[in-house]
Amino acid sequence: MTKSLARSLSKSHVGAGFLVGFFLVLLAYFTVSEQFAIRALNLFSQRSTEHEVVSTPSAKDVEQGRGAEKSNQLVELKPICDTSNPDFCDITGDTRILGSNSTVFYVPPPKITNPEPQEWKTRVRTHKHLKLIEFVTIKSLRGPSEAPPCTVRHDVPAVVFELSVQIGNIWHDFNNVIIPLYLTSRRFNGEVQFLITNLKPWFLKKYSVILKKLSRYEIIDFSSDKEIRCYPRALVGLRRHRDFGILPNLPPKGYTMLDFRLFIREAYSLPKDVPISYRDKPEKKPRLMLINRGETRRLLNIEEVVKSAEELGFEVVVVEPKRDLNVTEIAKVVDSFDALMGVHGAGLANIVFLRTNAAMIQVVPYGKLEPIAESCYGWPAREMKLRDVEYTISLEESTLLERLGRDHPAIKDPDSIHRSGLKKVREFYKLNQDVKLNVTRFAPTLLKALELLHK
Ligand SMILES: *[C@@H]1O[C@H](CO)[C@@H](O)[C@H](O)[C@H]1NC(C)=O
Ligand SMILES: *[C@@H]1O[C@H](CO)[C@@H](O)[C@H](O)[C@H]1NC(C)=O
Ligand SMILES: *[C@@H]1O[C@H](CO)[C@@H](O)[C@H](O)[C@H]1NC(C)=O
Repeated sequence: MTKSLARSLSKSHVGAGFLVGFFLVLLAYFTVSEQFAIRALNLFSQRSTEHEVVSTPSAKDVEQGRGAEKSNQLVELKPICDTSNPDFCDITGDTRILGSNSTVFYVPPPKITNPEPQEWKTRVRTHKHLKLIEFVTIKSLRGPSEAPPCTVRHDVPAVVFELSVQIGNIWHDFNNVIIPLYLTSRRFNGEVQFLITNLKPWFLKKYSVILKKLSRYEIIDFSSDKEIRCYPRALVGLRRHRDFGILPNLPPKGYTMLDFRLFIREAYSLPKDVPISYRDKPEKKPRLMLINRGETRRLLNIEEVVKSAEELGFEVVVVEPKRDLNVTEIAKVVDSFDALMGVHGAGLANIVFLRTNAAMIQVVPYGKLEPIAESCYGWPAREMKLRDVEYTISLEESTLLERLGRDHPAIKDPDSIHRSGLKKVREFYKLNQDVKLNVTRFAPTLLKALELLHK
């Protein structure tokens, strides 16, 4: 890195004095701000990826300084961009966005000579493996003289992202958009503007409360926007840490799923987050919301389960999740419960509306689905300071036994299904299995949740 930087700078006839000074400044920034350090390093590093490479000089070319001779070719450079999954670029400085051209221009400050205008394409989506690809081109220009004139000036940062990701149920909505958007934009405290490609009006309407809490500014329909918008900073793509989760040690560092749940409470004006405890209220019954899935992984003996839970000491309400429900109203209803129970599935994502110490009871269907259940809901629940109670059904409680018989590989050897891929796992265990709980076997799970709520 150092070598090629020195070479490109000397190629553009920059004096050695400037070089030394420049390094000192860089060094100072490294110690002051780690964020800048990453950016500064990337700004001059040349890294190619296996994707959409238009023309990449070989490592040898770069080593021998030949990259610069190809300056009129497009080179897959990754300044200001992080190539780890997903693509994410953080551009600080004079940034000009022309949405209808899907282009973001970076204009280096006049003092820095940008030896080679760089251009690279980035996917503004949160999953690399999704087929739908929306590219935004980022061009770093030689200097201000090349910059297209601003038609609108903004003094807050821009976040450019897309909505052609998988959305439609609450788990995907949160996993693919809301949590990554929170990670990317929360620290600006509303002083940030969203530019969205593949804008889906229903999504903006459904989550308007959260979007307004994250940004005080009008949302721009990126793809049809003909303005040249100038920003002091632009983040292209969304940060993403893991499924339905936040890792505090990854940038933007320090955020947790608990912060996220409290942010959601604030956005929806839910009551103060008083931790749930029935310790001093033995006469009061904890309220259990039982999610009745309608199509797959149904709970076939729901009435028997309700009766059993009531006998053990819960007040039970059965709800049927529908996609077009008003989130503000769902949030209010879920918040009034102490526990939420359901067979593994998207409805459990409603735990984001529960209070501290509330319990999630996840019923895991047959087929070695425990790791998926843990990753999608168990871990996030605990990270959000909720109680996580899990129950894995026995083969006898699954409709698979009757459908397939004891000798079927999906019954005898779930590992073999997992080895043949997620599609098969989905087909056998997620789409074609219903559950009939053995209430005797299940009772200790309900008692455990009750015990936790009485702590
Ligand atoms: C935007 O795209 C149009 C059509 O491809 C092109 O003529 C124009 O120069 C582009 N604008 C900028 C500022 O690059
Ligand atoms: C949802 O309900 C709230 C309060 O009941 C209402 O103010 C809001 O407009 C509704 N949102 C949508 C998208 O219908
Ligand atoms: C239900 O579970 C209990 C306790 O594990 C077990 O003794 C009983 O045989 C089960 N009933 C059925 C029908 O499998």
